[in-house]
Order: sequence, then C-alpha cells, then structure tokens
Amino acid sequence: MSDQNPCKLILALDLETREEAFAMLDRLGDSLEWVKVGLQLFTAYGPNFVREIADRGYKVFLDLKLYDIPNTVAKAVQSIATLPVELLTLHASGGAEMLEWANKARADYSPNLNLLAVTVLTSMDEAQLRSLNVLSTTEAHVKHLADLSLNAGIQGLVCSSLELSPLRARFGNDPIIVTPGIRPKGSSADEQKRIMTPHAAATAGSSYIVVGRPILKADDPAATAAAIRAELNVAS
Ligand code: C5P
Repeated sequence: MSDQNPCKLILALDLETREEAFAMLDRLGDSLEWVKVGLQLFTAYGPNFVREIADRGYKVFLDLKLYDIPNTVAKAVQSIATLPVELLTLHASGGAEMLEWANKARADYSPNLNLLAVTVLTSMDEAQLRSLNVLSTTEAHVKHLADLSLNAGIQGLVCSSLELSPLRARFGNDPIIVTPGIRPKGSSADEQKRIMTPHAAATAGSSYIVVGRPILKADDPAATAAAIRAELNVAS
C-alpha cells in the first residue's frame, strides 16, 4: 500500500462474553485502533455493545455478513448507519441488486461507512462449491464475485491473503482489501490453512489485516499488537 494508506491491524474480538471482551480491551489499551465485532458478540449484546466499544475510542468493523433480499439488506444498512461503525460486511453472492441497494442505503444514510463484500468463505473448498452447482475454480469464482461487488459500487473485499496479488493485479490500489488468516512468525496456525505473516500481507497489498487468536491468546496481548503494528509500518 502507499504511504498514505499503510496496512492497519484489526483485532477480531472473538470472545464469549462482554466481560471477557472488555477485560481484553483494558489490557490492550491504545496498542490497538480497530476492533472487529462478529456475530457471536453482536447477537448476544446488540447495538449497545458496539456503542460501548466506540465510546472507548476504538473504530468498529461490524462483521455481520448480511445476505437477504435487497430491501431487507438495505433496511439493515440503514439501521446500522445509526451506529458508530466504519466497516460492515455483506455476502457478494447476494447478487448485484442486493449489493446496489445496500450501497445506496450506505450513501444515503452513512456516506463514511465502507461496505466490504465477502466473496467465497475460506471454509469452502471446491467440493462444496460443486455441491452448490458452482462449476468454476475457487479463484475464478472469487474474481467473478469481486467483479460483481466492485461494479455494484461496494468499497472493498474480504479475501484470503493468498488472493491479494491476483485481486490487486485486476482491480488496482483503490478497493479496500481486508485479509484474515494472518499469523506472525512463530505463532500457532490454529485451524487456519492459508496463512501469511503481517509483513507479507501488507507487502502484497492488504489494506487491513484481521488478527484474533495470536493476540487474544498471547501472554502480553498489548505487546503482541504493538509488535504487529510495528511490522506493518515497516512494510508500508
Ligand atoms: O483467530 P484468527 O486470527 O484465526 O481469527 C480470524 C478472524 O477472521 C475470525 O473472526 C474469523 O471469523 C475471521 N475470518 C476468517 N476467514 C474468513 C473470513 C473471516 O478467519 N474467510
């Protein structure tokens, strides 16, 4: 990425309870700027939880992966526009009309919000794509859904770090690209299969990396987050 847009770290706040989440944020303090709230905590604690995180000074990535008829998704975006959220996910496979309606609601109600399209879930293999009657390769299907999303006006994509190079080659520097599956050198891969280091992902063109367990399970989460951010600044 360019000097104006260094790759940024987002913590995946994948914890079970509000108390655990806030205890972790107390430990992290200002070693962190961005927090991803996913379905588990959002369905348990709702919009107020998002407001509380933003009140602590963090920027919020709300990872709800919306997928429904265009009107319902647009209304959900309109509701989310009342919250302090800067990044929001939806499924590219909802189709062009759903993506366009979502983007229109974003522009009308929260122009500073950026929508991110999830292309193919990294949990899907080609056998599973076949079972959905998708006959192309995963890479070709990712590109197809990325085309659909960006043509519909969506601001960015969530993808595996291994897809960064082909997507940057195809779409240039403009789209936001967010990559999970990141592991600093020496940390456990957990069940993630296609991983990259923070430095490699930043160099390959990631706008934001999402990191969960390597920080959440570290003996010193703040030091680990600070070390990852330092690695990203060197790469940018
Ligand atoms: O703990 P870890 O760093 O593996 O967490 C990665 C985060 O990114 C999790 O919240 C996971 O749900 C999310 N994610 C992912 N792969 C995707 C999309 C999202 O790992 N393709």
